[in-house]
Amino acid sequence: MKIQRLDAPFGCEVLGLDINSGVSKNDYLQVRAAFETYSVVVIRGAPLSDASQIEFSEMFGPCEKTLKGNPAAGSVFARQSNLDINTGDQIPAEDRRMFYQKANMLWHADSAFKPRASLCSILSARIIPSAGGATEVASTRLAYDALDENLKTTIDPLIAEYSLVWSRGLIGYEFNDEERSTMHKVRHPLVRENPVNQKKSMLIGAHAMNIEGWEQADGLKLLNELLSHATQQKFCYRHEWQEGDVLIWDNRACVHRATPYDSNAEKRLMQRTTIGDLSEEAFDHKAVAA
Ligand code: OGA
Ligand code: MN
Repeated sequence: MKIQRLDAPFGCEVLGLDINSGVSKNDYLQVRAAFETYSVVVIRGAPLSDASQIEFSEMFGPCEKTLKGNPAAGSVFARQSNLDINTGDQIPAEDRRMFYQKANMLWHADSAFKPRASLCSILSARIIPSAGGATEVASTRLAYDALDENLKTTIDPLIAEYSLVWSRGLIGYEFNDEERSTMHKVRHPLVRENPVNQKKSMLIGAHAMNIEGWEQADGLKLLNELLSHATQQKFCYRHEWQEGDVLIWDNRACVHRATPYDSNAEKRLMQRTTIGDLSEEAFDHKAVAA
């Protein structure tokens, strides 16, 4: 197995690892160390089976159960696809299920709206379109490093608030009253320190809706400024998919987004597993009423 830097501002590729054949503890530890260092890990090969993806994902930590809105709800997979889960047929572009996926085109960190935020996501390409559908990732670690020292000092102690009702609202998606009654906004430190290398990063993106104790207009202004800063080209990696690719991104240190493809003409099926960040248990996440 060999690990090499990507030709990008951050990220690495692991060569010579076949996840479907089973990953040894030692190989996992090398991948894990590279993940902590580079924030994005690319592994290319034959498409994963669901079972191999789960086994590999669980080496990183507990997989999240998928929320109701996703077609794979109740499993550990978030299915990102324009194919009906039962028939395999293309879902019409105007279908509510496709509308929901538009949210992926906003820069975001997966599960930031949950009481326990995420360590990483593992996205496995099962079927890819012949054109389009790349995934972009921006490093909020590189972005944080490049902030001026005064701004770092200002944002270091801040707590931000995150909400799925808020972020889905950005694309015009509304939850009904029953759904909303079960949803709360959550709080997380805006700036997080990697426990292995002490590098700081920012938990920002579409789910972030305010800074605790601030007027929302002021909170959003800061959050939007930080996001525009973080998503400059010089902090971005764009992944052009090949079938079988596995992309791991650090949700503590990156935001990502989907890019368009012709969903009427093409087929795309990606399976995501999402791993919780257990170090989050140390923080008081008491949910705040939305
Ligand atoms: C995700 C996601 C982007 C894509 O799976 O969390 O945002 O390109 N995916 O499918
Ligand atoms: Mn996502």
